Amino acid sequence: MSGSALFETFARVPLAFERGEGSWLITENGERYLDFAGGIAVNSLGHGHPHLVQALTEQAAKLWHVSNLYQIPGQSRLGERLAENSFADRVFFTNSGAEALECAIKTARRYQYSKGHPERYRVITFEGAFHGRTLATIAAGGQAKYLEGFGPKVEGFDQVAFDDVDAAEKLIGPETAAILLEPVQGEGGIRPFPTASLKRLRQLCDKHGLLLIFDEVQCGIGRTGKLFGYEWSGVSPDLMAIAKGIGGGFPMGACLATEEAASVMTAGVHGTTFGGNPLAMAVGNAVLDVVLEEGFLEEVSRKALLLKQGLAAIADEFPEVISEIRGTGLMLGLKCTMPNTKVNMALRDQKLLAVPAGENVLRLLPPLTTTDADIQEALERIRAGAASLSKAAANGG
Ligand SMILES: Cc1ncc(COP(=O)(O)O)c(C=O)c1O
Repeated sequence: MSGSALFETFARVPLAFERGEGSWLITENGERYLDFAGGIAVNSLGHGHPHLVQALTEQAAKLWHVSNLYQIPGQSRLGERLAENSFADRVFFTNSGAEALECAIKTARRYQYSKGHPERYRVITFEGAFHGRTLATIAAGGQAKYLEGFGPKVEGFDQVAFDDVDAAEKLIGPETAAILLEPVQGEGGIRPFPTASLKRLRQLCDKHGLLLIFDEVQCGIGRTGKLFGYEWSGVSPDLMAIAKGIGGGFPMGACLATEEAASVMTAGVHGTTFGGNPLAMAVGNAVLDVVLEEGFLEEVSRKALLLKQGLAAIADEFPEVISEIRGTGLMLGLKCTMPNTKVNMALRDQKLLAVPAGENVLRLLPPLTTTDADIQEALERIRAGAASLSKAAANGG
């Protein structure tokens, strides 16, 4: 946009939304878009969820911010609830996914240091990973396009091919501290790690005294039909980063840890000004109220099946547009036959929002609260988009 004072770091679409309702985003002139991008897995409960609006506005009238120098009851409560419902015993709150990862990486390094192994600081990661845009998390993600021009890559990250556990095993050396992965890669193209691989990685970590770190910034908080994606495998990490869905649109994240891993993070070792502030905690607790309600996650799985089956039928009908449906729960990917950006644009023409990912995949990340009617509407729009692309391709376009 000419005259804009903003960094041009985002290739923005010329669309501005004024408000949202459930799975829908509405422009100033009243055009309605079906939001199956969900702020890239952020709007876990859709737009304008009454329980979240109430929690945020009630808290806003009471207290916005106090420093972590004081007790924050909402923070203690959310920490306890996350711990009760996961492998974790301790939680550190942050403002974003990348900061949650920074905390996990720092905790892993500090753990090895405190256990008498200051030489162990290296972290093994997997190709296709995305862990954020700070200097350490671009090094962890290892993607050349995000590292270019930002000086020496932060030292201590080694990468192997996606799901190559043999290569990871070979890479473990006297300096290795941890293994880091997304149980379901998001930006990498909706790629779930096979359970057998997660089990082997857990065994390798146990054998060599390494910490296993999961990044559930995108796949956590009900997205796969369980509260956390790792639950499908039965393999627990020592540390886990979450963000996105836990805030439902309010910026927040958290690093979850076992007692053992967190024991080294003593007073003054790490900190944050805003992380865990009362506003964020009110919203995080409200998100959990809904996601932990009896039957909520089962509904996510039921709706996900409906969506996935409908998408599979579209892929069967238009193999020249979509070759495969990937993913679990409401974290689905359309592996495209033609460029995913082209498919994305065709869906946007149908007023349906999706998000491109690696491996020529287009992600669908609707709100977990999306309805059967929204799903039927989305399927009709995706079918119409695929049909128009197919027709254009047949006409040589
Ligand atoms: C798996 C994963 N990890 C980390 C991040 C970084 O989160 P943030 O953008 O909140 O720093 C993202 C963001 O897309 C993500 O998908």
